[in-house]
Amino acid sequence: MVCLGNICRSPLAEGIFRDKSNYRKLNIIVDSAGTSDFHVGATPDYRSIEVARKNNVGISNLTARKFTVTDFSHFDYIFVMDLNNYNELFKLTSDDAERKKIILLSEFLYPKQKIQVPDPYYGDEKDFETVYKLIEDSCEKIIEQLFL
Ligand code: 4NP
Repeated sequence: MVCLGNICRSPLAEGIFRDKSNYRKLNIIVDSAGTSDFHVGATPDYRSIEVARKNNVGISNLTARKFTVTDFSHFDYIFVMDLNNYNELFKLTSDDAERKKIILLSEFLYPKQKIQVPDPYYGDEKDFETVYKLIEDSCEKIIEQLFL
C-alpha cells in the first residue's frame, strides 16, 4: 500500500487490508510505504488513527518508511492511492513485470475509472472518513477478486 507520506492513507490501507485478510484466514503479507521520506519513522497521522479506531482497526503501532526498489521483488501487488504515486513508482521500475505490479487501489472497485484516494492531509475529519470508506470498499473488492 503506497501513498505520499505513509502517514495518512497507506497506513489505513495496510491496517484495513490486514484485518480483512486475517478475518478470512488468508495468509497475505501486507505492508505500506511512502514515495517521499517526509515522515520516515513517524506513527500515522492522529486523524487516521482515530478514524481507524472508530472502525475497530488498530494502526497506531505502524511507522512510516520510504518505498524502495526492493519492494518490487518482495511483493506481488503494489497498490497506490493516487496517480502521482503511480507515476513516481513507475519511474523506479526496470521491467514490465514490475510495471504490472503497480495498481491503483480503486481499480477493482471502479475499473478503468482512475478514481484516486484523495490526499486528506490538509483536510478535516470528514475527509478522513471519506478516505476510509473508499479504502475499505476498495480493499474488500481486491480480496474478493484476487484472493478468494
Ligand atoms: P499521505 O498524506 O500521503 O496519505 O500519508 C500526506 C502526508 C503528508 C504530506 C502529504 C500527504 N506532506 O506533505 O507532508
